[in-house]
Amino acid sequence: MSFPVKEIPTKPFEGQKPGTSGLRKRVKVFQQEHYTENFVQAIFTSIAPLPNDFTLVVGGDGRFFSPETVQTILKIGTANGVKKFIIGHKSILSTPAASNVIRKYKANGGILLTASHNPGGPNADFGIKYNVSNGGPAPENVTDKIFAATKTISSYKVVEAPPVDLAKIGETTYGPAKVTVIDSVQDYVELIESIFDIPLIKKFLDTHPEFSVLFDGLHGVTGSYASRLFTKVLGLPESSIQNCVPLPDFGGGHPDPNLTYAKTLVDAVEANNILFGAASDGDGDRNMIYGKGAFVTPSDSVAVIADWAEEAIPYFSKKNGGVKGLARSMPTSKATDLVAKKKGLEYFEVPTGWKFFGNLMDAGRLSICGEESFGTGSDHIREKDGLWAVVAWLNILAYANSQSPNKLLGINDILQRHWSIYGRSYFSRYDYEEVSSEGAQKLVDALNKHLDASSLANKEFSSASTNEKYVVKEISNFSYTDPIDGSVSKNQGQIVEFTDGSRVVFRLSGTGSQGATVRMYVERYVAPDAGEKSLGAQASDGLKGLIEVALHLSNLKEFLGREEPTVIT
Ligand code: G6P
Ligand code: ZN
Repeated sequence: MSFPVKEIPTKPFEGQKPGTSGLRKRVKVFQQEHYTENFVQAIFTSIAPLPNDFTLVVGGDGRFFSPETVQTILKIGTANGVKKFIIGHKSILSTPAASNVIRKYKANGGILLTASHNPGGPNADFGIKYNVSNGGPAPENVTDKIFAATKTISSYKVVEAPPVDLAKIGETTYGPAKVTVIDSVQDYVELIESIFDIPLIKKFLDTHPEFSVLFDGLHGVTGSYASRLFTKVLGLPESSIQNCVPLPDFGGGHPDPNLTYAKTLVDAVEANNILFGAASDGDGDRNMIYGKGAFVTPSDSVAVIADWAEEAIPYFSKKNGGVKGLARSMPTSKATDLVAKKKGLEYFEVPTGWKFFGNLMDAGRLSICGEESFGTGSDHIREKDGLWAVVAWLNILAYANSQSPNKLLGINDILQRHWSIYGRSYFSRYDYEEVSSEGAQKLVDALNKHLDASSLANKEFSSASTNEKYVVKEISNFSYTDPIDGSVSKNQGQIVEFTDGSRVVFRLSGTGSQGATVRMYVERYVAPDAGEKSLGAQASDGLKGLIEVALHLSNLKEFLGREEPTVIT
């Protein structure tokens, strides 16, 4: 069969700038004639000329508009010189699974069809993200080139070809290219089995049936992975998973694992006294750990995993090279820094966005990292990994219990032990979603003004409800110089530091698809000797005074015209 290449004339679209994690817009936007084609062509233009044996991985969270976009990528990719496509069965590959497939099969890159945790369906969001050969999101110099190409595009190339059957696993020829549709789950499960002490976890679960487990896929992509992992590999009953059939619209839900959007998990955990609950987001890279009466903040989660890793998780054992370094994104609490200091490990504070961890991992300086935005992961791939984090917690709990024959240890026991050693970083994030861009800009400008004039330094603010007093030490604007390639990322969020070590960070989201989203992150550290009462409070109580002060000094409510945040995590 011949596959003639056609050149289709087109015009640039405004605003095809890839954000923190690719281009995310409403499905309706992507459905405009030439819109998706332009962006896909821009990806290939930005990496042209393609090497002769260029291999591309394609897959995503299975959201609405994915199957047709895979066909678009096949046509445009082939016309631009891709020689081999590795495609997830039915267009499904979770983000961590895609990262693994790129690395394992030494592909040159991958296109991930996902808008992560944003809702899906004909009236919701779609996204296209380009990952490079290390399996991680394209760095800024690549996304800048893609954006530049979208602004000058005048035509795109396609081959005329019949669609590939994405439901059929196996290899087919596609004109000058080969297309392999792979089992989306197998490689990923093998990876997880190679990292964790699966026999120990199984033994623990087998001998402690009272340790109930529930994973909620929120109808995102992890359903496929979790059902194999939990029921087949770990031998748990079907009742240990729920909402694990991936749906193109995520069942109408918002597939984001936090206390607001993962309500199905929270309700089931509370109703059935589940000791270990967890959820993941639409594309499988985020996670939330939540058991009866126990919520692990993502900032604590990475610190706890880092603390136990070498002892409990085979991949990080001394024998396998040990833990190299730790890292967190700037707004994430400093709990992980404390673990690194105690263990004498190198640690890093990077801007928000997983891509910033990749260089450090490639350089062999980073093993475990995390972000407050429910992202946790390690150098086994170059994306964060929801199920990895869930299994890491199960591995740690299995190990801790193997050392505690007389008392069943749960999530809270692990947390309390951690705080009693390192102290606790109370942490919370307030999100103001889809506010006016103008108001958001005013908030940022006002903070920058204070920064320039040092007008808040040494000023004392007190909370009316708790009587706590906070004195501003310094305001700064976070800027990062990558220690590996020297690239500089400026304006990554404004930090208000107080003299007691507490801090508040203001940052504009880079992942929204409409208006602006402002995030306010608050952190207050309590030392390990502060006593059980001070260490074990609800985060909202531990942070009450600081939040009041933060809202007051920033004038946030006035600038944004919002009394309450949309989401609190
Ligand atoms: C994506 C990235 C994360 C990042 C998050 C930030 O999920 O993969 O690494 O933390 O976006 O989102 P935001 O909306 O705060 O820019
Ligand atoms: Zn995600």
